[in-house]
Amino acid sequence: MARPLKILSVAAEAHPFAKTGGLGDVCGALPLAHHRLGHDVRCVLPHYASVSTHGKATIQNTGRTLSIPVGISNPQAAIHLTHLQNKVPLYLIGNDFYFGRKGLYGEGGTDYPDNASRFVFFCRAALEWCKAIGFQPDIIHCHDWQAGLVPAYLKLVYQHDPFFKNTRTLFTIHNLGYQGNFDVSTLALAHLPAQAFHTQGLEFHGRFSFLKAGLVYSDLLTTVSKRYRQEILLAENGFHMEGVLQTRKDNLYGVLNGVDYEEWDPASDPWIAAPFDRDHLNGKAVCRKTLLEEMNLTVPQKKPVVSMVTRLSWQKGIDLVRDGFAQIMKENIGLVLLGVGDPAYEAFFAKQEKRYAGRFACKLAFDEGLAHRIIAGSDILLMPSVYEPCGLTQMYALRYGTVPVARSVGGLADTVKNFNPDTGRGTGFNFRRFELKYLLQSLRTASGLFANRTPWRRLIRNGMSQNLSWERAATEYIRLYRKALREP
Ligand code: ADP
Ligand code: GLC
Repeated sequence: MARPLKILSVAAEAHPFAKTGGLGDVCGALPLAHHRLGHDVRCVLPHYASVSTHGKATIQNTGRTLSIPVGISNPQAAIHLTHLQNKVPLYLIGNDFYFGRKGLYGEGGTDYPDNASRFVFFCRAALEWCKAIGFQPDIIHCHDWQAGLVPAYLKLVYQHDPFFKNTRTLFTIHNLGYQGNFDVSTLALAHLPAQAFHTQGLEFHGRFSFLKAGLVYSDLLTTVSKRYRQEILLAENGFHMEGVLQTRKDNLYGVLNGVDYEEWDPASDPWIAAPFDRDHLNGKAVCRKTLLEEMNLTVPQKKPVVSMVTRLSWQKGIDLVRDGFAQIMKENIGLVLLGVGDPAYEAFFAKQEKRYAGRFACKLAFDEGLAHRIIAGSDILLMPSVYEPCGLTQMYALRYGTVPVARSVGGLADTVKNFNPDTGRGTGFNFRRFELKYLLQSLRTASGLFANRTPWRRLIRNGMSQNLSWERAATEYIRLYRKALREP
C-alpha cells in the first residue's frame, strides 16, 4: 500500500462555511473524499464574518496568532479551528480588518479595493501556519487566484527553507475568468522579489497576477473538466492566459468535479418537501407542487417548470436569457430563477417578475435551501453558459430528475449528453451556438418531450442513474499528487 499523504487545501471558499459558487462545494467536499481514502488532509480558509453563521460546527480559538508581512506592516493572523463534518480540520485565518466584512470578495457587485492585501495575507499565513504547527504537507492543493501566491512563495521565498523541502504544489483552475490582477505595487505588498516580475513570472500585461503566479510556479496544474482543459489552451477561452498554459500543457490535466451525494441526494435531502429516487418518483411531483406554492406560480401539469440557480454573471449566459425573455415566456412554461450578482441583471429580473406574475418568479439572494428545493421541484434546468469550466448545478439536476438544457461547452459538454428518443439514450438537451434560436429550439424539444410521460421518465432515469461521485475525482487527484512527488 502506498503511504498516506499529508495534504493542505488552500481556497477562499469551503461549504458550509463560505460559498459563493461551485468553488465552495468542491473545497468542502474534496478534502472529505481524501480523508475517506485515508489521507491526512487539512484546510485553510479566511475567517469571514459569515463563517460562524453558516456552518453548524463548533469553532474553537487556538489562542495562537501569527505576524504576517504585508507591505510595510505586520498584521496579525488569529487562528481558529473548526472541522468539515467533524472530520477534516479547517483552520480559519482571522483578521477582522481584512475578513470581518459582509462579503467574501466585495459588496453590491463591487470588489473590495484591498483584495490584493487580503489574499497576500491569506496565502502567506497559510504557509506560516503549517510551520507554526509543524504540519509538513506533501502536497498543497491551491484553488483559484486567491491561493495563487502559495506556489510562488514556495519557489521564490521559501525555496531554501528545509521545512518545505519536500512539499509540492498542485494548482486547480476553477475559472480562468477571475485572475486577481492588480497594480505592480502588489509585488512589494507581497514581499516577492522584483526579479520575478517578468513575462515568464508574475507579470501579466504590466500588472501583477495572482492567477499567473499559480499557473507558473505550481508543480502541476489541473482544471475541472477535460473539455475545459482543451478550451483554455486556445485564445477563444484562454482569457489571454493561453500562452502561459501552452508552455505548461504537459503538466495540465482535466479532472471532472464530483457531486457530494451526502449533500445532494433527493432520497435524503433535508431541504426538500418529499424524498424520491429513480424508482420512486412520486416525491418529485410533491416537490414541484410545493415549489410552485412557495414561489407563487401556477403552471399547467403538462408544462414544465424551468429553473436557473446561478450567479448572475455574464459567464452564465444571462444575456441570452435577458434578450430572449419574452420569447422564452411565449413557450408557456413556468420559470424560476435563484441568483445574485450583477445589479443590472438583478434589476431586469425583478421587473420581469411583475410583468409575468404567476409564471415567472425570482429570488435575488443566496439561499442554499431554496437552491435544493428548486433543483428538486423543477423539471428542466437551463444553463446557457458562455463558458463553463465544470458546472455543478447540472450534475445536481441530473440526480434530482431535472433535465439540463445546456450549452455544450466545458464541463456541460462532458456531463450532459443529448437525448435520442429512438435509442432512449442521453441525459439532457444540448445546443452549441450561443444564439437565442438554438436555446429556444432545445427548450422546445425538452418541453415537447415533457408532455410525453414514457420517454420523459426514461430520460430522467438516465440522468438519475449517473454516478458522478467524488471518489473517482479524489483518486485521480491522489494519482497526480504522487506524480508531483515522483512517487509510484
Ligand atoms: P459556479 O461555480 O460558476 O457559480 P457551479 O454550477 O459550479 O457554478 O456551482 C454553483 C453552486 O452555487 C451550486 O452549488 C449552486 O447551487 C450554488 N448557487 C449559485 N447561486 C446560488 C444562490 N443564489 N443561492 C444558493 N445557491 C446558489
Ligand atoms: C467555477 C466554475 C464552475 C465550476 C466551479 C467548481 O466557479 O465557474 O464551472 O463548476 O468553479 O469547480
